[in-house]
Amino acid sequence: MKFHEPRNLAILNALIITVTYIILFFSSVVLIFPHAFTHFSSYLILILSSVLLFLMAYFIFRYTLERFIYSKIRLIYKSIHLFKVGKKEKPVILPEQNIIENVQTEVESWEDEKQKEIEQLNRLEEYRRDFIGNVSHELKTPLFNIQGYVSTLLDGGLEDPTINREYLKRSEKSIERLVKIIEDLDEISQLDSGHIRLNVTRFDIVALTQEVAEMLEMKAIKHHISITVNKPEKHILVEGDKDKIRQVLTNIIDNSIRYGKCEDGHTKITFFDMDENILTEITDNGIGIETSDLVRVFERFYRTDRGRAVTRKGKGLGLAISKHIIEAHQQTIQVRSTIGVGTTFGFTLKKA
Ligand SMILES: Nc1ncnc2c1ncn2[C@@H]1O[C@H](COP(=O)(O)OP(=O)(O)OP(=O)(O)O)[C@@H](O)[C@H]1O
Ligand SMILES: [Mg+2]
Repeated sequence: MKFHEPRNLAILNALIITVTYIILFFSSVVLIFPHAFTHFSSYLILILSSVLLFLMAYFIFRYTLERFIYSKIRLIYKSIHLFKVGKKEKPVILPEQNIIENVQTEVESWEDEKQKEIEQLNRLEEYRRDFIGNVSHELKTPLFNIQGYVSTLLDGGLEDPTINREYLKRSEKSIERLVKIIEDLDEISQLDSGHIRLNVTRFDIVALTQEVAEMLEMKAIKHHISITVNKPEKHILVEGDKDKIRQVLTNIIDNSIRYGKCEDGHTKITFFDMDENILTEITDNGIGIETSDLVRVFERFYRTDRGRAVTRKGKGLGLAISKHIIEAHQQTIQVRSTIGVGTTFGFTLKKA
């Protein structure tokens, strides 16, 4: 029996009063009229009056309790409800609603929501901390390089023909890297805030992939990697921002070369018809990505240890931008990988 419910509390109180009444009735009647309980009618009076008292006490208690509790809880319920539905909607409390039960469920679901929000905020806070750490780390390296070269040049290196041009060139490279990082970050934040308007057109995804593959061919040859575009018989028309999708393809194919197998490496691009969408998959037989890193490679500045070991050139921003671009199209991008076997990146686009 739940004693926090007004009905049960009223029963308990009515019982206490009735039992007290019976005891008092007995003791007083026995004292004053010792022979009264020999008559059946006395018992009948006692039973009837007890039942009546019980019912009266029950209803009075229940009514007062409910009025009291409801007046308090109504306010809490209203506040919770207002908070949940937003200030615009007015909460409607129907007379048949059990407010106490409602408050309990509302508070429980509210608690769940708040718990989830706290977890998400903690994750965001952790992500923000990592992000700031990563930004400063990525900016520090080229900045310190520039500082070193400029100091050497100012300390007399400017007059030394063996190093002056070379140090200026290296400084220029570091500046280019800084500019690229800032441009990439700017692009991500613009995509994030929804400020970039997609210029959606219909285009042939196979032709665009072919174009990107040709553009990266020289780089691939240098790394002994072959690129194959599995061309279907027909054109595949999709809807999207062509320049942005070119950027996605460039980064993923470039990654397949960068983190590809040094000897006899290959990158294969295949298209799959998925009813409403077209799935483009880019598969390499390169170094692969650890399972624990798979979910993180789309984070800004995230680079795997294996990736860092292969090259220091990466900024860890290409996949973050790609993910933002694909999500701005309301489509998805995923990755699967096995260490030593290779990696497949896939993204979908709406069929035109
Ligand atoms: N095909 C791949 N095979 C193995 N590792 C990969 C592959 N693609 C990406 N990675 C890992 O994911 C990380 C993030 O990739 P991402 O393209 O975002 O950055 P990046 O290539 O390092 O630099 P950039 O910003 O210049 O593209 C890489 O540093 C690498 O560790
Ligand atoms: Mg990249």
